[in-house]
Amino acid sequence: MVTVRAPATSANLGSGFDVFGVALGRPADVVHVERAAETTIEVTGAGSKFIPEDPEKNTVGAVAKALDAPAHIAIDKGIRPASGLGSSAASAAAAAVALNELYDRGKSRAELVPIAAKGEAVVSGDAHDDNVAPSIMGGFTIATEKGVRHVDADVPLVACLPDIVVSTRDARRVVPEHASVDQLVETVGNAATLTSGMHQDDPELVGQGMYDSVVTPARAELITGYEAVRTAALDAGATGVTISGAGPAVLAVCHERDQRAIATAMLDAFEGEGVDARVYQTRIGEGATVY
Ligand code: HSE
Repeated sequence: MVTVRAPATSANLGSGFDVFGVALGRPADVVHVERAAETTIEVTGAGSKFIPEDPEKNTVGAVAKALDAPAHIAIDKGIRPASGLGSSAASAAAAAVALNELYDRGKSRAELVPIAAKGEAVVSGDAHDDNVAPSIMGGFTIATEKGVRHVDADVPLVACLPDIVVSTRDARRVVPEHASVDQLVETVGNAATLTSGMHQDDPELVGQGMYDSVVTPARAELITGYEAVRTAALDAGATGVTISGAGPAVLAVCHERDQRAIATAMLDAFEGEGVDARVYQTRIGEGATVY
């Protein structure tokens, strides 16, 4: 048997829609795999009752097929589905790393990214590498059609997850079809600032570069209390705040000294809007770990 822990992730980071992602120190999914004649799946943990165990419909079924690695796959969900924290990507990433090990397929971490993305496509409709890449490789990742670039960054984060559900499909439906040249110029500037900040572990630059005026405002409409939570986090010292992935989780970047105050402020702001939430005080973390 092989056991792998794969972390939650936060994709987009505002200016890097469908490209940027970071691994979070926590929460995480844990996947156990054992050789079998055909693939069977068992899911326990956070939100497991909403996750199909049919290999044709579960994200890890597609991964097992792509690696030609039939197995009994037990998924212990630490990451709630439809959270914006890369829940399905973490299961796919963990399964890809675990099955590669179990069957000695010899694939590199970079080679496993598109394989895990096939699994993600089963639930989100599209194959995006921006969650599976950091879940497999850790750190900050830049996923483009030309491959994945990886930066071993370390920045404190607060991820606040409200008790509401936003499906990735719905969140993609509201993405504007067009952006102006001014918005393009602004986005390039912000993405470059953020990337530079990641190379320097600088929360000020990362936070500044997370701003986005194209996708985030459209998606904010789907998250009750988003503006109040964003303002509360900034007032408490966050250097940048944005929607985590497709939402509804909200991600704040900060200095370590402000982390606790920001976490409390975000929870209070959601509560003020009548929304229960939970919060993770974390940092950019490691990729999938084999036990
Ligand atoms: N980049 C994707 C999105 C992440 O924001 O829709 C979720 O798959």
